[in-house]
Amino acid sequence: MEYNKKKAEEFWTNRVKEVDELRAVLSYNAPRYVNEAYDKWEISTLLKSLGKVKNKKILDIACGVGRVTIPLLELGAYVYALDNSKKMLDITNKKAIKKNLAKNLKLIKSSADEIGFNNNFFDVIVCVGLLEHLPSELKVKVLEEIIRMLKPKSASYLIINNKNSIFLNKNHSYSQKEQSSDGYYVSLIGMDFIEKYSKTLGYTYNIISSNILYSFFRNKISELTSSLNDETLGLLFNYAFENDLSRKKIDHLDEIFSDQFLVKLIKQN
Ligand SMILES: C[S@@+](CC[C@H](N)C(=O)[O-])C[C@H]1O[C@@H](n2cnc3c(N)ncnc32)[C@H](O)[C@@H]1O
Repeated sequence: MEYNKKKAEEFWTNRVKEVDELRAVLSYNAPRYVNEAYDKWEISTLLKSLGKVKNKKILDIACGVGRVTIPLLELGAYVYALDNSKKMLDITNKKAIKKNLAKNLKLIKSSADEIGFNNNFFDVIVCVGLLEHLPSELKVKVLEEIIRMLKPKSASYLIINNKNSIFLNKNHSYSQKEQSSDGYYVSLIGMDFIEKYSKTLGYTYNIISSNILYSFFRNKISELTSSLNDETLGLLFNYAFENDLSRKKIDHLDEIFSDQFLVKLIKQN
């Protein structure tokens, strides 16, 4: 079956209607404290790396329920929040209105491979939680679009799941060959995808952060839940994300045990 964008759009719209927001956009099967720890790691590490964003024009590709968009608006950025699900955009918009932040928010209902802004338009582009849900040809198109729309010397921040992770490799849900009948699709991306297009598209890249401790506990949680209560597990996940945040060194162990990397791309010219 060929990948169908409309089916994917329906899938994400239905999912956010069905379960709480973090489960809808992060791990569907995980307990709340697991998703909360991931959310804190991802948003904290991203905001720390972005630095000052006031008055910058930032594109949040696949904004979902606004996990990235809302904190950026709070920091004074002009955010262009894009998603192909109207329901997701509505949720993000409602949050912005409630916090009196909607004047700096522009909502765009579009698929990420056909965004259509001018070349060199954005100061920053963020794309988290999308690429792993796209088939190869769309993934490449989105990367091309990101580089095209970024101003020269400006940066894009992507979350890349780790193809070499010992945990993700054993997880059968990532070996999906094609989109399932409900519209869901997920795959492993890997840093070789980023490496492959760096010369042709003209960017440099580096890994800013990784989540080795979180990944370890996340993948071992079924073994832990039989002997530990939710409160203790919540503390453990908090400990994991705080340690992942304060660790600087990205090394051989990350290549084996971290499930996700925050990657910064810099457009050359
Ligand atoms: C896993 S969620 C991540 C949402 C958000 N970035 C976050 O991390 O909280 C995936 C999001 O991608 C959106 N999406 C899926 N395919 C898309 C496409 N082709 N173009 C734009 N958005 C898409 C979904 O509607 C959903 O909001």
